[in-house]
Amino acid sequence: MTSICIVGAQWGDEGKGKVVDLLAERADAVIRFQGGNNAGHTIVREGEEAWKLHLIPSGILYPGKLCMIGNGVVVDPAVLISEMDGLRARGVDMSGLRVSANAHLIMPYHLLLDTAGEARLGDQQIGTTRRGIGPCYADKAGRLGIRMQDLLDEKILRTKITAAMEPKRLLLRPYAKDPTLDLHAMVEQYVTYGHRLEQYIADTARMVWDLLDDDRQVIFEGAQGALLDIDHGTYPFVTSSNPIAGAACIGAGVGPKDINEVWGITKAYTTRVGSGPFPTEIEGPLGEELRASGGEYGTTTGRARRIGWLDLVALRYAARINGLTALAVTKLDVLSGQQTLSVCTSYVGSEGARFDHFPYHQSVLHHARGEYVELPGWSQDISDCRREEDLPPAARDYLAFLADGIGVPIVLIGVGPGREQVIWCDQAASASS
Ligand code: IMP
Repeated sequence: MTSICIVGAQWGDEGKGKVVDLLAERADAVIRFQGGNNAGHTIVREGEEAWKLHLIPSGILYPGKLCMIGNGVVVDPAVLISEMDGLRARGVDMSGLRVSANAHLIMPYHLLLDTAGEARLGDQQIGTTRRGIGPCYADKAGRLGIRMQDLLDEKILRTKITAAMEPKRLLLRPYAKDPTLDLHAMVEQYVTYGHRLEQYIADTARMVWDLLDDDRQVIFEGAQGALLDIDHGTYPFVTSSNPIAGAACIGAGVGPKDINEVWGITKAYTTRVGSGPFPTEIEGPLGEELRASGGEYGTTTGRARRIGWLDLVALRYAARINGLTALAVTKLDVLSGQQTLSVCTSYVGSEGARFDHFPYHQSVLHHARGEYVELPGWSQDISDCRREEDLPPAARDYLAFLADGIGVPIVLIGVGPGREQVIWCDQAASASS
């Protein structure tokens, strides 16, 4: 059975949750492999209030579906519990949820350090989601992390929290009176979280091996996107994990050969939240128009997303570092009504140099601007199209230009927010079955 890894091919918010939701229906399990509650998925199902999820894979909406949070994810237990409570209140069966015993925990001091770090950077700030993601991954690398399994032993938990807080004393001094930093209260609170989560804590890597050995289908779910990757993205304006396919192996505990396909999700245009280079950014009224029609406001922070034209230079790079085998293009409907559509095929640097590939040097990238090919737009509403043939010729040409420019076939096209508003392309038949 084909196991598929779903990754963002841009700067996040590409609509991965929707694709995972669609694939999860027929898959045996979903495992999220990195990031934390900096991510946000909105799932729109007909006749239902929208579902907003940050940590739990969207497959949870299928009763009993095995949905795992892998060891590579950083988990804020307060957020996880409130997400579980919210789902349960709407009648969702949580029996399929599992959280890796090795997943690291976001602690109250991580939240404070995230905010303090951004304040220190002033106008150089990254624009993090301030959910404590970076400080938590830093503690993981520093061998000072607290893991899910530590919640189950109060003595170990207290010892580890004390050790983790000690080197941060100076940085945390401005927050000395913050009630969330009281050691006794923190341990008590996290022990309570442990009681709530105990039944879901598991050896998720072993569960995935068993499924794969049984020839079952597993979906590996990434968060954020390739250009926010801490190694390959627009450093330092990136997240603190690796949102690319290689990280699925680490964050779920499998080998590269366990993943058969890698689907990159891209919008039909580009967005980015937070600071950092964005060569195809559209300023002014057109950017505002697309932001409004695409509802481009962050699910997690509510921030207005920056808008840009489709960027084939960045997408080719994302295809390479992920080893993409297929593309899913979301939000094509948002472009309806534009007379012409610009597609970036190369960059030009500050001194006139031309780049067909994504520049590795930060200074070059910060000054790079897109060079464009203009393609004709279409005026028809495409939200009811369900087959490629239903799309206007200009929309089909736009998609063909995209697929050719990246060298990866398109399997799925999103034409509206609803889960039924998709077009499955011919290539998808084998992979999704
Ligand atoms: P952090 O992940 O909160 O540390 O934020 C680092 C950068 O990643 C910031 O530019 C955030 O806006 C961005 N970021 C983090 N998560 C997401 C996401 O799910 N979608 C889009 N951008 C994200």
